[in-house]
Parts: sequence; structure tokens; C-alpha cells
Amino acid sequence: MKNLLLASVLSLGLAGLANAACGGAWAQCGGENFHGDKCCVSGHTCVSINQWYSQCQPGGAPSNNASNNNNNNNNNNNNNNNNNNNHNNNNNNNNNNNNNNNGGSGSTKNFFDNQIYANPKFIEEVNSSIPRLSYDLQQRAQKVKDVPTAVWLAWDGATGEVAQHLKAAGSKTVVFIMYMIPTRDCNANASAGGAGNLNTYKGYVDNIARTIRSYPNSKVVMILEPDTLGNLVTANSANCQNVRNLHKNALSYGVNVFGSMSNVSVYLDAAHGAWLGSSTDKVASVVKEILNNAPNGKIRGLSTNISNYQSISSEYQYHQKLASALAAVGVPNMHFIVDTGRNGVTINSGTWCNLVGTGLGERPRGSPNAGMPLLDAYMWLKTPGESDGSSSGSRADPNCSSNDSLRGAPDAGQWFHDYFAQLVRNARPSF
Ligand SMILES: *[C@@H]1O[C@H](CO)[C@@H](O)[C@H](O)[C@H]1NC(C)=O
Ligand SMILES: *[C@@H]1O[C@H](CO)[C@@H](O)[C@H](O)[C@H]1NC(C)=O
Ligand SMILES: *[C@@H]1O[C@H](CO)[C@@H](O)[C@H](O)[C@H]1NC(C)=O
Ligand SMILES: *[C@@H]1O[C@H](CO)[C@@H](O)[C@H](O)[C@H]1NC(C)=O
Ligand SMILES: *[C@@H]1O[C@H](CO)[C@@H](O)[C@H](O)[C@H]1NC(C)=O
Ligand SMILES: *[C@@H]1O[C@H](CO)[C@@H](O)[C@H](O)[C@H]1NC(C)=O
Ligand SMILES: *[C@@H]1O[C@H](CO)[C@@H](O)[C@H](O)[C@H]1NC(C)=O
Repeated sequence: MKNLLLASVLSLGLAGLANAACGGAWAQCGGENFHGDKCCVSGHTCVSINQWYSQCQPGGAPSNNASNNNNNNNNNNNNNNNNNNNHNNNNNNNNNNNNNNNGGSGSTKNFFDNQIYANPKFIEEVNSSIPRLSYDLQQRAQKVKDVPTAVWLAWDGATGEVAQHLKAAGSKTVVFIMYMIPTRDCNANASAGGAGNLNTYKGYVDNIARTIRSYPNSKVVMILEPDTLGNLVTANSANCQNVRNLHKNALSYGVNVFGSMSNVSVYLDAAHGAWLGSSTDKVASVVKEILNNAPNGKIRGLSTNISNYQSISSEYQYHQKLASALAAVGVPNMHFIVDTGRNGVTINSGTWCNLVGTGLGERPRGSPNAGMPLLDAYMWLKTPGESDGSSSGSRADPNCSSNDSLRGAPDAGQWFHDYFAQLVRNARPSF
């Protein structure tokens, strides 16, 4: 995946969320631009994580003095519908094919058949490139700005950004990608990181779920953890073997919480056909196991090809294989999202880093192809123009020095102007 987002905070000028009450476990309770209540419920302490983010953490003396914190009311239990701890103990339910619950209605609706929210961060990034482009490319880049891209939740403070997006989106569908799993990217280094441990991860999930509940008119697509399923199925490194249970538990937790919400439509990420296409039975059994341990949640389907460059039709063959392998183990009616951000030109390469010759692909939209009924959407998931990784520095990855890779790339997740210019130039359909 190689999509490490830096700890940059949106400079969007969007107002923060005004919470109705003191935060529960893991809720945001302070930080610059945060306008909610700067207090935590009893038994929790408001801990300053950084300039932008303070968080209610379990334990410690109740505190009201985290940075930027001007509350005067911290022992307050008038609490907030927070469902934080409802999901922990019911993992023994083996009856998963016909869940006694219905999951959220998000599992039965295609939320892409709706206007899709354009991430202001992408607009800013494109804005930063426009003055450096030729007149012709400038005209095209102006149009690229309107294209919806996913919002990556990929660092500790990201949970605090969810409210801003939901508020800005109104009734449009917001596409989030959770990329915070502990020991993320266990098979490589470019995107290593994630939550410190499983409990912290669960806290992030709960916090985000609570924020979504406070915007009852929102529609959210939640894509869970690119790379993880792929590594669960194929990675043999000791690093990855050691975290298999941890990763499965984290995915189950996310499905259980988000997949029970009526306004959230959950997709697990299933890498791409070139990676897992010959292992669909194994993918299906891992997915089945994850769902077995998420008795309250349902998924709508799977996403594929995030950050890749392959054709829609080849990916659709993978979708069909996955759908039948899943149906065969009792997980029927799966739908798919394909990342078309950078697959305007099909490029086959043994490597994956900032490949030369690529272009922007099909524009995001729901139910995009009558001949491909399993497809819920084309969507720009990997933010096109953000780097996959660098060939130098502490996060250098040898793939990024391949002669297939455009040179001069910054670290993963940072804006790569020359790459963006290439993508615009080679866009199919063109802008
Ligand atoms: C703020 O908290 C710190 C420890 O967390 C404590 O030492 C300090 O006295 C507190 N300040 C105020 C004004 O309460
Ligand atoms: C992008 O640039 C346009 C025109 O210069 C400006 O109106 C807009 O506010 C900018 N958008 C963001 C998100 O920075
Ligand atoms: C990641 O970095 C560690 C420590 O620098 C190194 O031992 C390991 O081989 C690297 N892994 C990969 C996949 O590059
Ligand atoms: C979102 O949830 C609210 C209630 O919380 C419900 O009225 C609304 O229909 C839901 N929207 C969708 C798209 O499911
Ligand atoms: C997904 O990515 C792979 C690797 O680049 C590519 O071969 C494949 O065609 C892609 N599939 C789609 C549907 O874009
Ligand atoms: C590229 O990365 C893959 C794993 O993602 C690795 O197997 C391969 O050896 C790398 N190739 C180069 C040239 O570094
Ligand atoms: C990259 O180098 C390999 C040999 O090392 C060569 O086969 C390949 O054609 C080169 N690719 C490009 C785009 O120059």
C-alpha cells in the first residue's frame, strides 16, 4: 500500500465538532481547533498527545488541565450514548451465516449511489501544484480538484479529524480508509506504524464510531486496513506470522462495531488480483473467520487494487472469483470497490513504487458498469499524487529505486508534484 499519511492536520478552516458532553474513553478532549467539550467522563484523564490532539484515556486522576483545555467540569457522567464497551465479549458466536442481528443497513445499500464527498486535503494538494504546471495542465488540474478522493485515517490524531469531514460533507457519502492497525505493513517498512496495541486500536474504532453517531444524517463508507488481509493470506515473514491473531482480532473488532451501524457501509480491503488472485479460497476462509468473530457486524463487501495500476476488467475477474469463493463458505452477496485513481494506463511491473507512465483513471461513481454488477463503485482510494515511498532517507524502500519508479519522490504519503503532473498528463479518460 505504502500510503503513510503524515501527521499533517487539515488546515481547512473547518470548525470542529461541538460535543454535547464530556468524552468517554479515547474521545478527543482538546487540541488546537478543537471546539468540543474539553473534559472526560469519570475514571478518564485528558492526556495531551500533541498540539492538535488531547485524548480521554482510561485511568488516572480526573484531570482538567490538558493543553488547550479550559473546561471546568470533569467528573461529569451525563454521558453521551457512548457504546464503547459493548462489543468486547461476544466473540463466541458461531452462528454467522444467518446472523441473528441484521448488521447495519449500510450492509444492504450502495452508499456510492449518492454524491461523494471530495476531500479538501486533496484540493489543497492540487492547488499547491497548479502554479508549477504548464497552462494546459493547469486547466486540466482545475477539473481534477473536483474529483472525490478517500480520507485516510492513518495516524493517532486522525480520529479527531472525522467530525470535520462529516460536518463538511453533509449528506454526501464520505469514504474513510482505516489504516491504523497495530504493526501495520508487517511485511515492509515504507508504511510501518499504526496503533501501539490492540486496545489502542479498539479505542480508535470506538471513538470514530461515536463521532459518526453524533452525525445521524451522515453516510459513511469505511474501508478497513489495506494490506492486512493480503499479508494474512500470503506473508511468511516472522514479523507477519507473529501478528496474525492480533490482525484478525483488530479486523473483527472494526467489522463488529462499524458493521452494526446503519449509516456505515464496511468493506474489507482485499489487495489485488495479482497478489491474491490465485488464493481466493484462502482469502475467503480468512474473511469468514474474521466475520465469525464479529457477530454484530456485517460487511458490504471488499475493496481491491488500492494504490495499484491494473485494469478494471482484470480486477473484476478477481472480484468474481472472490465472490464465489466467499459464497461457497457462507458469505454471499459480496460487492466490490475498485481503486481507479491511478489505473488509467495499465502498467504491469514487478514493483509498485511511483511507477512511470501511469495516469488518472475512471472517475469515482456508484454502480459504474452494468456489465459488472458486483461493482459498487469506481473510487479514488489512494490519493493520486501522494508518494508511495522514497528511494532515500530513513524510510527508503529498494522498490522505489527501481528503474520503473519516477525519481525524486518524497516519503510515502507526501505530495509528489512530478508524479501528479504525470498522472494528469496520462489520464484516461482525459480531463
Ligand atoms: C496539571 O496536571 C499536572 C499533572 O498532570 C499537575 O502537575 C499540575 O499541577 C496541573 N495543573 C493544574 C493547574 O491543575
Ligand atoms: C484552492 O484554490 C482555489 C483557487 O485558488 C481556492 O478558491 C480554494 O479555496 C483552494 N482550496 C483549498 C482547499 O485550499
Ligand atoms: C525493515 O527495517 C528493519 C530494520 O531496519 C530491517 O531489519 C528489515 O529487514 C526491513 N524490512 C524490509 C522488508 O525491508
Ligand atoms: C442514518 O441514521 C439515522 C438514524 O440514526 C437514520 O434516520 C438514517 O436513515 C440513516 N441513514 C442511512 C443512509 O442509513
Ligand atoms: C490492480 O492492481 C494490479 C497491480 O498493479 C493490476 O495488475 C490490476 O489490473 C489492478 N486491477 C484493477 C481492477 O485495477
Ligand atoms: C519490491 O518489494 C517486494 C515486496 O513488496 C519485494 O518482494 C521485492 O523484492 C522488492 N523488489 C525490489 C527491487 O526491491
Ligand atoms: C529496468 O531494468 C531492467 C533490467 O534491470 C530492464 O529489463 C527493464 O527494461 C528496465 N525498465 C525500464 C523502464 O527501463
